[in-house]
Amino acid sequence: MSSESREIVVTSALPYANGPIHIGHMLEYVQTDIWARFQKLRGHDCIYVCADDAHGTPIMLRAQAEGVTPEQLIERMHQEHLRDFSDFGVAFDNYYSTHSEENRFFSEYIYTQLREAGHIRRRVISQAYDPKAEMFLPDRFIKGDCPNCGSGGQYGDNCENCGATYASTDLKNPVSVVSGETPIEKDSEQYFFKLEDFEDMLKAWFAAGHVQTEIANKMNEWLDEGLLDWDISRNAPYWGFEIPDAPGKYFYVWLDAPIGYMASFKNWCETTGHDFDHYWNRDSETELVQFVGKDIARFHTMFWPAMLHGAGFRKPSAVHCHGFLTVDGQKMSKSRGTFIMARTYLEHLNPEYLRYYFAAKLGPGIDDIDLNLEDFTTRVNSDLVGKLVNIASRCAGFINKRFDGKLAPRLSNETLNQQYLEAADAIADYYENREFGKAMRDIMALADKANQYIDEKQPWVTIKDESRRQEVQEVCSAGLNRFRQLVILLKPVLPQLAQQAEAFLKVEDLKWADLGDNLLDHAINRFQPLMTRIEPVFIERVIEATKKDLASEQKIQQGQSDSPHEAIAAEINYDDFAKLDFRVARIVGAKRVEKSDKLLQLTLDIGSETRNVFAGIAGAYQPEELEGKLTVMIANLAPRKMRFGVSEGMVLAAGGGDTELYILNPDAGAKPGMRVS
Ligand code: MSP
Ligand code: ZN
Repeated sequence: MSSESREIVVTSALPYANGPIHIGHMLEYVQTDIWARFQKLRGHDCIYVCADDAHGTPIMLRAQAEGVTPEQLIERMHQEHLRDFSDFGVAFDNYYSTHSEENRFFSEYIYTQLREAGHIRRRVISQAYDPKAEMFLPDRFIKGDCPNCGSGGQYGDNCENCGATYASTDLKNPVSVVSGETPIEKDSEQYFFKLEDFEDMLKAWFAAGHVQTEIANKMNEWLDEGLLDWDISRNAPYWGFEIPDAPGKYFYVWLDAPIGYMASFKNWCETTGHDFDHYWNRDSETELVQFVGKDIARFHTMFWPAMLHGAGFRKPSAVHCHGFLTVDGQKMSKSRGTFIMARTYLEHLNPEYLRYYFAAKLGPGIDDIDLNLEDFTTRVNSDLVGKLVNIASRCAGFINKRFDGKLAPRLSNETLNQQYLEAADAIADYYENREFGKAMRDIMALADKANQYIDEKQPWVTIKDESRRQEVQEVCSAGLNRFRQLVILLKPVLPQLAQQAEAFLKVEDLKWADLGDNLLDHAINRFQPLMTRIEPVFIERVIEATKKDLASEQKIQQGQSDSPHEAIAAEINYDDFAKLDFRVARIVGAKRVEKSDKLLQLTLDIGSETRNVFAGIAGAYQPEELEGKLTVMIANLAPRKMRFGVSEGMVLAAGGGDTELYILNPDAGAKPGMRVS
């Protein structure tokens, strides 16, 4: 074990404040948290900071869509994010915001340093502009037909159909997502960071092994193609920090976002009395270890080190990239219900199941990680419940009932203890090198050995022989001591279980250095089940709930808030209206339609006759609550043949979407068949 204490600052990427945390994000925060907890467990000085990334156009537009100020939106998101993280056991030393005075200070400072050193230049460029919303449009806010394959509804940067990448100006029939207007081209002066000034520095930095080989190779390819200037300014209206010497120009969100790491750390220094410069000075000997997804590797391994270097700060010791989370082998999907929000997961499942599963799958590379839901269930049940917790529950009963809760004064399996201690060093190296999967594999092999030992000793048999009483106590005490070691080894992954185990074993906050000790002649508490099995139905509930979440989330993303702001349709004349025959109808029958989660089949009494109508209201109503109700239907709509039968009209309902629907009721006294006009 290393004897020298290290000083390490650890970060995860700053999640955008325009939406909730999902389990894809959690992969990163769990990976980082395990690594940071491991360092702390080993006695190192490790500070884990993060923040919300609170600036940029999407946040501005989402606030508008919700009818709140950006400040209100980011405040709410900050609280929600932090709650999700802490409920998942992610223990930041500080969780801050890029919309903070510290961040404004450092953004202005770094920009000014870069400008003084000649790394900023200005240039007039032409960009897409929405003349109606009076704003410049980021690529993601322009849609149109792909210039390559012609497929419609594609974003301004790449085609989801054929994969082509292009400039938003190449889109055919482009429209602004903000107003629906056709964008025009408009000139304006922008501020650029001259990345090429840092070419040699970056080459040397990649060669020195601060990033994974796969990433270094990719970045070197870009270096070889020649580095382009990076546009760091945006025109008003923009949600961010105004550039000090350029009124009406704002820092692009990706300029101030990574500086948010410094701002969060500075904020931590202010509250704890630490020295910021000691960690961030160019010649600092502390470590800065950053975890990010591979999608944002370029920002973190090119722009960010160049900015730090150019402004006189230290660079990261390591930028560790990870791959993306897939679920059941596919991209997380809204329609399949696998785009799972952190909160939805937490409502149905223990967070440590997922922490363990991620740990079991994580390695040091950038391959995608698959959450296979069946494997997840089996693995957690067999490893955590069947192996780990089982050791404690098999041994604790005898100690609690037969030995007054007291562990033996000596143990009987020194060999196993030695095997554990020998394995621990390799496990520590695995944690250090982000080989969490290998660490979990070795830890579970140790758990298997403890279970085999108990199987061989058969305390449930020997307990019947009064002369072998002492042996039973020694065997079970040995088992519990091995359990205690496993808890230490797994503590970075399962902090909550570790805490419960500490209470059960009546021990203080366990550290890695405690591995070598044994609890002898020591009183323990009654055993409480530490973790229960995952039942497949819990997972089904998560998937179901996820499908519901997305309906409302999507609406907000598309700028349709739940308030009824839909535009009024084109004008019609009275004759058009008079053609429509609305009737009061009584719902005399309502039932679900097999193989459809949207439709209910309604039988409507309109006085003179009954009608069969399929209505898309199953997301909002149970059939039972409809029967007997009065509503309004359009009675002269041409019958429509559907997959399930013929629909003879439509009922009127307010609202949109699948769940936010309200059928109309006439006031009391109306009779079926009455004409509505
Ligand atoms: N705000 C930027 C980061 C700024 S850091 C100075 C951002 N935010 S994000 O919310 O989109 O993503 C936050 C982190 O979560 C990123 O590192 C991203 O790679 C990671 N992930 C988001 N979705 C993910 C998966 N589906 N799988 C794994 N990681 C994912 O990018
Ligand atoms: Zn295309």
